[in-house]
Amino acid sequence: MDDTLLLIPGPTNLSRRVREAMARPQLPHVGAEFYSTFKETIQLARYVFKNEKGAQFVYTGSGTIGMESSVVSLVSHGDRTLTLVNGYFGHRMLLLNQIHGAKADSLEFGRGMGADPDTLRRRLRKNRYSVVFITHVDTSSSVINPVPELVEECSKAGVLCVVDSVCAIGGEPLDFDKLGADVVFTASQKALAGAPGAVLLAVSGKAVEHMEKRKAPIESYYMNLLRWKPVMEDPKMYLATPATQVLLALREALLEVKAEGIENRWARHRKLGELTRERVDAWGQKFVADEGHRADTVTSFWVEEGKAGPIQKTLEEEHHVMVSRGIYDDRDRMIRIGHFGILEPETLRGALDSMGGVMEKLGLAPGRVEVARQKKKR
Ligand SMILES: Cc1ncc(COP(=O)(O)O)c(C=O)c1O
Repeated sequence: MDDTLLLIPGPTNLSRRVREAMARPQLPHVGAEFYSTFKETIQLARYVFKNEKGAQFVYTGSGTIGMESSVVSLVSHGDRTLTLVNGYFGHRMLLLNQIHGAKADSLEFGRGMGADPDTLRRRLRKNRYSVVFITHVDTSSSVINPVPELVEECSKAGVLCVVDSVCAIGGEPLDFDKLGADVVFTASQKALAGAPGAVLLAVSGKAVEHMEKRKAPIESYYMNLLRWKPVMEDPKMYLATPATQVLLALREALLEVKAEGIENRWARHRKLGELTRERVDAWGQKFVADEGHRADTVTSFWVEEGKAGPIQKTLEEEHHVMVSRGIYDDRDRMIRIGHFGILEPETLRGALDSMGGVMEKLGLAPGRVEVARQKKKR
């Protein structure tokens, strides 16, 4: 199992350096060393988000903590919110809005479709919302949404907006300072290639002001961004014990991102996405995401009902490569390939060769398929 190549959409393969960071003797979370490395981690997080203007947060918890922290910190009971939905994680965001007492509307887009800025504009003209929630890449469908255009609609309408970029940051371009979103968050275990367990959020001054001025107090201790803010400014303050190993590993992962250069990392992910899409095309399988809305971090495609399990099992047993199946109802008919983090195109190419062989063996790809060379628009 040790050398299985993970091509699941998170968690991803860790570099030796990241793994070794977790094997050190325990550091006291109140000691000088952890304090200075944590401060450095926050600065590195600013680098990957391109966030110099807003507040930066890094704390222990999975991506869902990022989702729920955004909802509970920005939304008061009875606020009207809008969630754009084109997959499982959009639905989860909607559910969190409902749980926290919002009058939660959704704007649902059909299977594989990206969220449409014109439709959003019309909805924002019709109703007054306090916050709009957008998923950058919905990992369940691998649909990427046109985040800059959607955020622009929110800005024009004067509505706060939150972007769940868990399956994007580090692998898809994002510039927080230019974007104009109010909260953007990600988690450590995807394109940043850290261990699972840390959430990273960039928050605009406008969002902080909104939290400070809200009439009803934020109904959470741990997921209250206002409580975390002073800790980010002085990590010596105690709010809750951080997962020190996860955060030390994150620092190494972020140092690796910085050494590569964020733009170079986006370009490498672009290649990974293109390579995967070429193969799926060549196998004659149908993408879940429509053309023009296919992410560079994860690719999903439909297979004949009942074949997803055999593909996954054979690939893992015979080639030590692990891909994912669809979520819930799509489990038996969808394959999802996560291609992010430290993955190099050569490694991916080899794994896709193996996968092509498995597909052929299972009668799912035409024999000796020529890789479609013509680069399709994604
Ligand atoms: C887009 C998106 N949002 C949120 C989450 C939730 O993150 P976690 O599983 O780390 O709680 C995921 C997890 O895969 C995700 O892909």
